[in-house]
Amino acid sequence: MKIVTIGGGSSYTPEIIEGFINRHKNLPVSEIWLVDIEAGKKKLETVGRLAQRMVEKAGINCKVHLTLNRREALKGASFVTTQFRVGLMEARILDERIPLSHGMIGQETNGFGGFMKALRTIPVILDIAKDMEELCPNAWLINFTNPSSMVTEAVQRFSKIKCVGLCNVPIYLVKTAEQMLGDSNFLLHCVGMNHYLWARHLYYKGNDILPEKLADFVRTTNESEQVRNVKNIPWDVNFVQHLGMMPVSYHRYYYMTEQMLEEELTKFDGGKGKTRGQEVKEVEEKLFKLYEDPDLAVKPKELEERGGTYYSDAACDLIQAIYTNNHQIMIVNTQNNGTLPFLPDDATIETSAMITDAGPIPLKATALPIIAQTELHIMKTFERLTIEAAISGNYDTAIQALTLNPLVKKGEITRQVLNEMIQAHKAHLPKW
Ligand code: NAD
Ligand code: G6P
Ligand code: MN
Repeated sequence: MKIVTIGGGSSYTPEIIEGFINRHKNLPVSEIWLVDIEAGKKKLETVGRLAQRMVEKAGINCKVHLTLNRREALKGASFVTTQFRVGLMEARILDERIPLSHGMIGQETNGFGGFMKALRTIPVILDIAKDMEELCPNAWLINFTNPSSMVTEAVQRFSKIKCVGLCNVPIYLVKTAEQMLGDSNFLLHCVGMNHYLWARHLYYKGNDILPEKLADFVRTTNESEQVRNVKNIPWDVNFVQHLGMMPVSYHRYYYMTEQMLEEELTKFDGGKGKTRGQEVKEVEEKLFKLYEDPDLAVKPKELEERGGTYYSDAACDLIQAIYTNNHQIMIVNTQNNGTLPFLPDDATIETSAMITDAGPIPLKATALPIIAQTELHIMKTFERLTIEAAISGNYDTAIQALTLNPLVKKGEITRQVLNEMIQAHKAHLPKW
């Protein structure tokens, strides 16, 4: 079986390689092609050689290829995973710093930053999908590239390629439930959108115990390890009980906007401080120094400093579940198809689903509280207008999308910041 990873020079690559090594008995991957671009060549070579050493040490029958030729790699692939960053880390840093300099949340997947990342990324993913239609039309595209929800929806709606989107954050909800119950024999049913997800039901020993376990859930979440890149400001138990569902870490940007903004602005220190993207650059430098060591042949512990930990579990479990048709329940980004009846059928949602060889089949949830329905309606419309703007390059559509985003300041400032962003990202926005 041939696997292709686009953005192979990512520091996360040892994660996915480890995932394939651990599953090799049930998932006989014989070729892994790591693809990157000229700008990422050095990273690709360094992390690619580590990947080759890892596979060799594990003694599995698998060859790791490194290439800048995407089309050659895609020929005959069974699964394509995507983990690329258009404009590299410098673009992310601009996505963070420009909104912060105007007193708005500066974040890689939410608010203005997430919007700009979508504008840069969607044309590229649609190009990849076009190549796949020609070179491996039956392959699955497993998308990890952010903003995962919009990037996945663009492929699902505007290409013929089968695509599932992933995020590592839902795994933290599941791990927290496991920690709280001291048992892994439960089903945590989650529903919403990527980085806007709630745990809706917790089925355990014959009942949905989520309502009476919410306070415990909040306490456990507040005390346990959560995703690295989102400040773990404790959830207020009363607030979560009013909500009636358990929010993910990223919901803090929406439900605790003022506190999160204050945190970010304090760190930013009027422009003198560092953003997460700048911190990640330092972590990356350390990681790549380690990766250069010819004696290193395992995934180093230091990779846990990145926010995407557990990514390989999600990606490799999903590939294995599709390949073996094992009906595992996973939390994935897939087409709504009536799961949330107030959203369009072709909208991508994040949901617990049964994985089959025909793709994910979402589990049915009880109707969401009206507040959650309304929030999702707004967020999904923001996403769909953003996808439309990324494809058309239409400025009015862009302003409409941004006007719907709760983390973006409204009025003339929206236009000012958009203009500044377009200027800053010009090299990666050919339509603008
Ligand atoms: P990175 O900056 O290391 O980029 C990864 C690689 O992509 C680089 O080597 C770069 O050269 C390459 N690249 C850029 N443009 C490319 C193109 N057009 N074709 C092929 N390769 C290209 O990024 P990273 O921090 O490893 O993150 C990679 C992606 O994964 C980002 O989009 C990030 O947001 C996403 N991510 C997603 C999650 C999730 O939960 N879904 C978690 C972590 C990271
Ligand atoms: C998180 C998310 C990703 C996010 C990433 C950032 O956990 O799920 O979608 O973009 O990690 O991690 P980083 O280490 O790059 O800040
Ligand atoms: Mn994510």
